[in-house]
Amino acid sequence: MERQLAGRHVLVTGAAGGIGAELCRTLAGRGAKVCGLDRDRASLARLARAQPGIATLAADLGRAQELAKRLAAQAKKDGPFDGLVSNAALFKDAGTLAKTTPAIWKEEIDGNLAGAFNVVHALLPAMRRRKNGALVFIASVNARVFLGHPAYSAAKAALLAFARAAAVEGGRHGVRSNVILPGTVATPAWRGRLRKDPKLFAKLRKWYPLGRIVEPAEVAKAACFLLSDDASAVSGACLDVDCGLMAGVKPLAAELTQEEF
Ligand SMILES: NC(=O)c1ccc[n+]([C@@H]2O[C@H](COP(=O)([O-])OP(=O)(O)OC[C@H]3O[C@@H](n4cnc5c(N)ncnc54)[C@H](O)[C@@H]3O)[C@@H](O)[C@H]2O)c1
Repeated sequence: MERQLAGRHVLVTGAAGGIGAELCRTLAGRGAKVCGLDRDRASLARLARAQPGIATLAADLGRAQELAKRLAAQAKKDGPFDGLVSNAALFKDAGTLAKTTPAIWKEEIDGNLAGAFNVVHALLPAMRRRKNGALVFIASVNARVFLGHPAYSAAKAALLAFARAAAVEGGRHGVRSNVILPGTVATPAWRGRLRKDPKLFAKLRKWYPLGRIVEPAEVAKAACFLLSDDASAVSGACLDVDCGLMAGVKPLAAELTQEEF
């Protein structure tokens, strides 16, 4: 496993976030040369101090032209990218349609979808030329069923269609494209909601067949698989990393069967 990604140069977006930092650590631990991109300079600097072996790039995925230039310069310096984990996301407080304003809708759609497009747009031509590329998109179980946050969910659902387009068009150019759909993962993105209810994660456990939420490292290990040759025939796939959440509604099944399990 340690050398699963040896010789791969992988860009991780949203690298300074909870899952992003773990992606950087796990990928590097498996032999990848990692470049972590984020727009949050302070958190990126903390990441660089904590993981001195990785390269960091402060850039905003929303600024397509500047992003493309910065990535081209990075590739010139450290070599072309073989892999991408498109992990950055934007999450606002509006949990319902009733609270979603046009401004929130646009911000969340752009932040979660346009950013992923912009980075793929910048990296794909070189991957196609080199006939070598693995794209991994971090979506969410919110792409499959409504769990609140309509704009975020719509953007995550659209990522699935985008990833399929990249899989179908990229195939004969040696480019694979897959999606990971995590369930709840304890990261700083939950800080605000945990302030309102410190017992939130404990309450969520009953919905998860495995009786717990997901660890950042479990998302990272799934990404390693999809980036690696172990997944050489896997393209266009959607992999739920959700402690069983999408398998069924456990409390409802218990009520319907009137049995404990
Ligand atoms: N935490 C969860 O429960 C959970 C569940 C399902 C899916 N996910 C997905 O996992 C991924 C990581 O989530 P997380 O919880 O680690 O989030 P996080 O908020 O901790 O990290 C997201 C990072 O993305 C960066 N970012 C946002 N917009 C950017 C932009 N335009 N340019 C550059 N960087 C930008 C932020 O600065 C931040 O560091 C996201 O795609 C998220 O939707 C998370």
